[in-house]
Amino acid sequence: MSCRRCSRGSRASESEPLGREATAHLPVLVEEVSFLLRPRRGGWMVDATVGMGGHAEALLERSAAARLFGIDGDPASLARARARLSRFGSRVVLCHGNFRHLVALSGSAGVTEAETVLLDLGVSSYQLEASGRGFSFQTDEPLDMRIDPSEEPTAAELLKRLSEAELARILFEYGEEPHARRIARAIVSRRARAPLNTTQELVAVVKAAVPRRAWPRQSHVATRTFQALRIAVNDELRALAEALPQAARLLAPGGRLGVISFHSGEDRVVKRTFNALATGPYALLLPTPVKPSRDEVQANPRARSARLRILERVEAIDVAA
Ligand SMILES: C[S@@+](CC[C@H](N)C(=O)[O-])C[C@H]1O[C@@H](n2cnc3c(N)ncnc32)[C@H](O)[C@@H]1O
Repeated sequence: MSCRRCSRGSRASESEPLGREATAHLPVLVEEVSFLLRPRRGGWMVDATVGMGGHAEALLERSAAARLFGIDGDPASLARARARLSRFGSRVVLCHGNFRHLVALSGSAGVTEAETVLLDLGVSSYQLEASGRGFSFQTDEPLDMRIDPSEEPTAAELLKRLSEAELARILFEYGEEPHARRIARAIVSRRARAPLNTTQELVAVVKAAVPRRAWPRQSHVATRTFQALRIAVNDELRALAEALPQAARLLAPGGRLGVISFHSGEDRVVKRTFNALATGPYALLLPTPVKPSRDEVQANPRARSARLRILERVEAIDVAA
């Protein structure tokens, strides 16, 4: 159940005890994904963000003839997916790696063509609540935020070395934070006294930097700062831009690529890339993104901002037939 690359060693971190558990990660838009992306025949489904294995499990249940190749950058999440999907036996192959190397990772498992490719972006409930890596402003943990703990830098390192202007740009571009300049200035002034090492230290800086009357009503005042830092630490938008053309290249004729995004920065990259690809042997399956139903948002508030876009590789029409 692993790719050639993983059997060479990156499974070591996966064999650690599973540790703290989060509330179950509810896969977003799972009915829509299963219905629109389930292969009509056998072949490979590639889940490039297999995470806790929720979408993978639903796809495997609904397409008995297909196999699944799952990738995740986080070895601890991959261990959870491995346990959840073990009942599917040899139909599942899992691999630790960054989806920016999608074609190489798939090739290492012998997957050169896929009926389905899925990317469900961002981080899972497990990573937010129980990974201990400081993704959430609600816990007090080291400011790490790395999806793959073998990569550099950590969030604390970025906060230490970026200039005030770079910090402001990141907060504004990746978090759409209206108080980006104030927060960047406050970070620089705080770190001159002592480094920022924990999530609650950062929360305190943001709270002090933004005037109380300007705190958002619907969300925590540090939400945008945490989102922006996580995107910067993991170079998320560039990885996405590199992965999408590779994902399209992997598609078999008639195959579909689905991407679930959670904020406008991600959705912009998906929309632009899909529109550019749709002039070639690809077409947008739907003119607008699929959004979660009111019932789903009520049951899973994390789904609120989810948008699913789907690109299809057009099947060649045999004019002679
Ligand atoms: C929202 S979760 C996916 C949840 C999954 N669909 C499920 O149903 O359980 C996103 C996952 O993508 C992984 N991830 C994010 N960026 C990645 C990247 N560049 N390469 C590989 N995995 C990545 C995260 O570690 C996380 O497990």
